[in-house]
Amino acid sequence: MSRNYYMAGNWKMHLTRTEASQLAQDLVKQLGDGKHKYLIAPSFTLLETVSAVVENSNIRLGAQNCAPEEQGAHTGEVSVLQLKDLDVQTIILGHSERRHIYKEDDALINKKVKLALKHGFEVILCIGELLEERETGKVEEVCERQTVKGLEGVNAEDLHNVVIAYEPVWAIGTGKTATPQDAEAVHAFVRKVIARLYGEDAASKIIIQYGGSVKPDNAAQLMAMENIDGALVGGASLKTDTFIPIAKFKS
Ligand code: PGA
Repeated sequence: MSRNYYMAGNWKMHLTRTEASQLAQDLVKQLGDGKHKYLIAPSFTLLETVSAVVENSNIRLGAQNCAPEEQGAHTGEVSVLQLKDLDVQTIILGHSERRHIYKEDDALINKKVKLALKHGFEVILCIGELLEERETGKVEEVCERQTVKGLEGVNAEDLHNVVIAYEPVWAIGTGKTATPQDAEAVHAFVRKVIARLYGEDAASKIIIQYGGSVKPDNAAQLMAMENIDGALVGGASLKTDTFIPIAKFKS
C-alpha cells in the first residue's frame, strides 16, 4: 500500500497540564523511532504545554474542535487563529461526541472544515453511524451524507489536507470494536464516495482512519485491511502502555 499509516490519539476531556506534559514527553521518547505518522490531540487548555513538548518531534499537535468563525463575540469558543498561535497543525472536526452531545450538524461541521482548511490546517473529519442506523441498514447512507456534506465546497487541492476518520458511534468508548471486515467495507465505500467527488487518484491517496475501541490486541488486524490507513484512538491513547503498542503495531 502506498499510503502511510496515521496513528492519532484523541485525549478528549482528560488530563491536567502536569499529566499531559508527562505523557507527551513519554510519547516523544518512545515514538521517536516510530515508522508512521503520529498525532496527539489534547484539550485546548493543554495545547500550549504539549506544544512545547512535541516541538521538533515526529508527533503532530492536534486540537479537538474549533469555532466556525475566525474571531469575534463568541463566548466560550476557540478560534483557528488562536490554535495557529499555539502551533496546532491539525483539527479534529465532526467527532461523534460533537455531533451527538453538542448537536453539531453537517452544515456547521462543513463551515469549520472550510475555515480550518483556509487557514492551512490539516483536518480529520470524523464520520460514523449510530447503532440504530447500523441496525436499520443505513450505514452507507449516513457515512455518505456526512462525507459529502462535510466536504461541500472543499476543492481538490485542499483535499490533500483532509483525513477521514470512520468511527462507528456504537464502538466509541464501549469496548466494542467493528470487526476488521465490517470496518473495511465502510472504508472501501467511503473511498468510492471520494472517488466520485474528486476522482480515483485523490481517492487512492486519502487517509481513512478507523476509530472506536482500538486497542493493542486489535490494532494490527484492523490495520491489515486494505482501506484502513490508521487509527483515531480515544481511551487507549491516554497511557503509553496501550498507545505505544497501537502506534507501533506490527504488521
Ligand atoms: P475510543 O474513542 O478509542 O475510546 O473508543 C475513539 C474516539 O472517539 O476517537
